Amino acid sequence: MALRLGDVAPNFKAQTTAGEIDFYDYLGNGWGILFSHPADFTPVCTTELGKTALLKEEFANRNVKVLAVSVDPLDRHYGWVNDINETQNVEVNFPLIADNDRTVASLYDMIHPNASETSTVRSLFVISPDKKVKLMITYPASTGRNFYEILRVIDSLQLTANYSVSTPADWKHGEDVIVVTAVSTEDAIKKFPKGVKVVKPYLRYTPQPNL
Ligand code: BEZ
Repeated sequence: MALRLGDVAPNFKAQTTAGEIDFYDYLGNGWGILFSHPADFTPVCTTELGKTALLKEEFANRNVKVLAVSVDPLDRHYGWVNDINETQNVEVNFPLIADNDRTVASLYDMIHPNASETSTVRSLFVISPDKKVKLMITYPASTGRNFYEILRVIDSLQLTANYSVSTPADWKHGEDVIVVTAVSTEDAIKKFPKGVKVVKPYLRYTPQPNL
């Protein structure tokens, strides 16, 4: 059955460019991103992996480990990583799974047969430290993902996990956030010393609490 938000992210062992990995061991107690690519030596995928490598510090600052998947074999991955490093001016610094037998693709429902019978679409999962699926996005092969949006969602997820706030439409780091409805206004005033602006009983803003 397909995964849904809140489900436990399935564990697996896989061959990667960094040796055999147990997914849960790789993630440890931090956050994770597992994302798939249709194929090695393709242009959009090359830019996506380059951008991910470029954002290494951003992921590290958020305690996020990144793991890429494609169904191509390991020897092709090694050659492709050289190309990515050369053309995108980066050092790919995260493992790529060689999912030749489609184990990971099947577990995470990454093959959408009406898009392609054989290759994975651009699936991306954000996984929290308790190994729950917190974000799932699916892009077509022809559209490269916006990795700043992925960082933005991770910031939002981490604020929710740590401070009982959610984030409004188009929220950006530094802007006011929303007090979750489970917290009463009375408690919110105690919990958020920077202030609570009550627009409606269910719509209460407070400055971003971790700044
Ligand atoms: C690409 O990465 O450019 C790509 C991969 C598969 C299909 C279409 C585009």
